[in-house]
Amino acid sequence: MSSDRLVIEAAEKIVTAQRVASFTGAGISVESGIPPFRGKDGLWSKYDPDLFEINHFRARPAETWNLLRDVFYVHFDKAEPNPAHKGLARLEQMGVLKTVITQNVDNLHQKAGNTDVIEFHGSSSRLICLDCNTRFDYNDILFDLLPPFCPTCRGILKPDFIFFGEGIPPEALQRAFLEANLADLFLVIGTTGEVYPAALVPVQAKQQGACIVEINPEPSSFTFQVTDIFLQGNAGPTMTALMEMIEKLYRQQTDRS
Ligand code: APR
Repeated sequence: MSSDRLVIEAAEKIVTAQRVASFTGAGISVESGIPPFRGKDGLWSKYDPDLFEINHFRARPAETWNLLRDVFYVHFDKAEPNPAHKGLARLEQMGVLKTVITQNVDNLHQKAGNTDVIEFHGSSSRLICLDCNTRFDYNDILFDLLPPFCPTCRGILKPDFIFFGEGIPPEALQRAFLEANLADLFLVIGTTGEVYPAALVPVQAKQQGACIVEINPEPSSFTFQVTDIFLQGNAGPTMTALMEMIEKLYRQQTDRS
């Protein structure tokens, strides 16, 4: 756990910032029961990432869908937001945080209550037809036969998140880098910072002068490059301590005004 001094310093920066954004990765959802991709018990130590490459999916949709069900959808209905997700939702409610830019596809930021979420890698909460590009809510599709077929054109449906070999959704890419230019504080939670172009977002924010506050139990690619305040610890308890301090400072601020 980070020293109280660092938590106080981070809280003071957050409550006095003009525009706060958060950038999150798989680590923020670990305490919700969703394994990360890298590191201890990481998915890429169990599954070959090539199995989640777009051309492999097109060639073997049924095989890939069986994996998708075991890797992603098994968690989808059960996983619940943890205190870290809830802290970000509270920060939006307080008017402190504007946008969450997430690399995650688990929809937990929306489940926690954040309404402005940029899904940099898409979302498993929707499916998209490979032929007619129609999108469907995951809950509206039957999964008794795999692969699921498009109700409109009978094409094959895939999760509406990017596979290796696919580009970042253009609107998400544009909005994320716009936020990197506008925010004066980025709260980076639970990411190795090893995947591009996502990892360029906090770097861009730093280059335009934003303060970078990072929460991670381990140093990441950001920690010694762009991070100003490193709160070393798991997202849940660290965000809980940070939120307690933010709420205290926020009350003092509103009492004074
Ligand atoms: N709290 C906070 N951070 C944690 C926790 C926790 N409880 N547990 C692990 N972490 C950290 C790890 O230290 C690591 O830095 O979360 C990070 C997980 O790293 P990755 O699994 O690589 O996740 P991420 O950085 O989001 O991966 C980026 O890679 O494969 C692609 O598309 C996939 O979006 C993913 C992208």
